[in-house]
Amino acid sequence: MFSSTPFVLSFALFLSVPLLFVFGPQILPPKHVSPSFPDDLDDLALFRKAVLACSSSRTSSAHSRLGTATNPKPKIAFLFLTNSDLSFAPLWEKFFRGHEHLYNIYIHADPTAKISAPGGVFQGRFITEAKMTKRASPTLISAARRLLAVALLEDPLNLYFTLVSQHCIPLHSFRFVHNFLFRKTPTSFKEAFSSPFPKYQSFIEILSEDPNLPDRYNSRGEDVMLPEVPFEQFRVGSQFFTLTRKHALMVLRDVKLWRKFKLPCLNLDSCYPEEHYFPTLLSMEDPKGCTHYTLTRVNWTDSMDGHPHMYTPEEVSAELVYRLRESNSSYPYIFARKFSPESLKPLMKIANDVIFGD
Ligand SMILES: *[C@@H]1O[C@H](CO)[C@@H](O)[C@H](O)[C@H]1NC(C)=O
Ligand SMILES: *[C@@H]1O[C@H](CO)[C@@H](O)[C@H](O)[C@H]1NC(C)=O
Repeated sequence: MFSSTPFVLSFALFLSVPLLFVFGPQILPPKHVSPSFPDDLDDLALFRKAVLACSSSRTSSAHSRLGTATNPKPKIAFLFLTNSDLSFAPLWEKFFRGHEHLYNIYIHADPTAKISAPGGVFQGRFITEAKMTKRASPTLISAARRLLAVALLEDPLNLYFTLVSQHCIPLHSFRFVHNFLFRKTPTSFKEAFSSPFPKYQSFIEILSEDPNLPDRYNSRGEDVMLPEVPFEQFRVGSQFFTLTRKHALMVLRDVKLWRKFKLPCLNLDSCYPEEHYFPTLLSMEDPKGCTHYTLTRVNWTDSMDGHPHMYTPEEVSAELVYRLRESNSSYPYIFARKFSPESLKPLMKIANDVIFGD
């Protein structure tokens, strides 16, 4: 007997072809972007998939999932970007424990670094799309974009995306962080998913004043960034950020700035692509949607070779944690870097009473 299912399917496919022609160019990044390195093609496919899925999930899958769940709560996607073992896994484990429905973890571990997979909440959270990362190259941008794409695709409840490294530690309890980010509780999930996403801002440092900015702008050659990125619009900021879902998608949709930022660095001493790409893109596309402030405290005093101060076990104390939380902004500091792997022991000692005591 003639079954109707394959017929309906092929009819739907047939119908969707002209729709792709109509809507494709608006929702998909163009296909004819010349890749600067071979990895680009895999990445482009992944980003297109995420953009496409999220464009339709706003109206269908996200809502149907939300519709069936009873009172679902928004989640934070924690994106770990690392090229060495996650030394602070036990501390993060303590941070996450007991909040299973409020977060997801994604780890981009450099596959050439032979990183051991931690257990517990980190079990099975390495993303298979991970590729090699290297300083002074656009690879750290690509790694962050892969994490955003995988997290966007996996769970429509991921509404904030927090990028951290293996040297980052939390300065507050999970409850504090979740309450802080979602302090303006959406009145409905429709509101939370609607674009623009008005009540939430991304936490990313965006600075236009920096003595090194001209050198960094020209690190790929003079005037190479033109016309896409005029010097007046070139920004610097922190590599680690917390983005809204809207901005995560904006980053994956971008092809214009990426075309320039993916170019190889000629002057390696003043090329930190990941510290410029995200702040420049977001400041050009949605400056009001960003706080221009990072939640991650870094100590640049006496920095060496572009590396911030790395805290040693001897420096770890309750007072240090309290000091690192203090900020001159109306926002607190929630994370901090960099900590040496050996700092884990003294941090674990003060974890319950000091770090997660709020
Ligand atoms: C920042 O690092 C310097 C050493 O480079 C140290 O003396 C100072 O106490 C640190 N500041 C904070 C707030 O930890
Ligand atoms: C706050 O501002 C003061 C005065 O400018 C400065 O000394 C201090 O380092 C700042 N603190 C932070 C956490 O940025």
